[in-house]
Amino acid sequence: MAVIGIIGGSGLDNPDIFSNSRDEIFPTPYGDPSSPLKRGSIGDIEVILLARHGREHTIPPTQVNFRANIAALKSAGCTHILATTAVGSLREEIHRGDLIVIDQFIDFTKQRKMSFYESFEPQKVIHCPMADPYDIRLRKLLVEGCVSQKYAFHNKGTVVTIEGPRFSTRAESQMFRAWGADIINMSISTETVLANEIGIPYAAIAMSTDYDSWRIDEEPVTWEAISKVFAENAARVTNLLREVIPKI
Ligand code: ADE
Repeated sequence: MAVIGIIGGSGLDNPDIFSNSRDEIFPTPYGDPSSPLKRGSIGDIEVILLARHGREHTIPPTQVNFRANIAALKSAGCTHILATTAVGSLREEIHRGDLIVIDQFIDFTKQRKMSFYESFEPQKVIHCPMADPYDIRLRKLLVEGCVSQKYAFHNKGTVVTIEGPRFSTRAESQMFRAWGADIINMSISTETVLANEIGIPYAAIAMSTDYDSWRIDEEPVTWEAISKVFAENAARVTNLLREVIPKI
């Protein structure tokens, strides 16, 4: 039976999305996950929600214990992970409120534990393939869900993940555009790598909340502006998950 882990990003970690839920504490060899795991169901499917930045949003991106989060979901029995994340747009055509079914990442983080392998066993070298890090089937279901809900969405997009918590300079933002990144955030690459290493199919649905810092015809991104867009649009992400999860 499928058990779906949902990692809720900032503003997208609403526990009301399912019924009959209970909290479970899952310490791991890597430390504690960002929040208790909330186990419940959507339809007949068991779902486990984890708030990436803690339930009170107290954990900045660099301090998120991504290894503990992924390891906790694994030991709680998750067979698939759907992650949600707010992102800045690096493209004119990705508007505020649009959803993006991410298909590639560029990792620009600088100080994170990004691997479960701190040493190799003798003659057991492990270098995890990462060419196509998002699960094809989960991505297809997310795309189909966006179509059926008639959401403004993009069926692919490359996310660049920065260390944060500061936003990018204009020069950095322009550089990420030149590199081919479409959207920007502070969490997804780390999580994607670890989910792949541990062997849980993983996909991420992003919501564009701002135009980062590259556009000279508008104010650079602020947290207040991001929060406002979340609040106005989070229900669409929740509806999408409700539609997609029973199909997994
Ligand atoms: N999350 C949402 N918007 C962002 C931005 N512009 N940069 C980094 N992370 C973000």
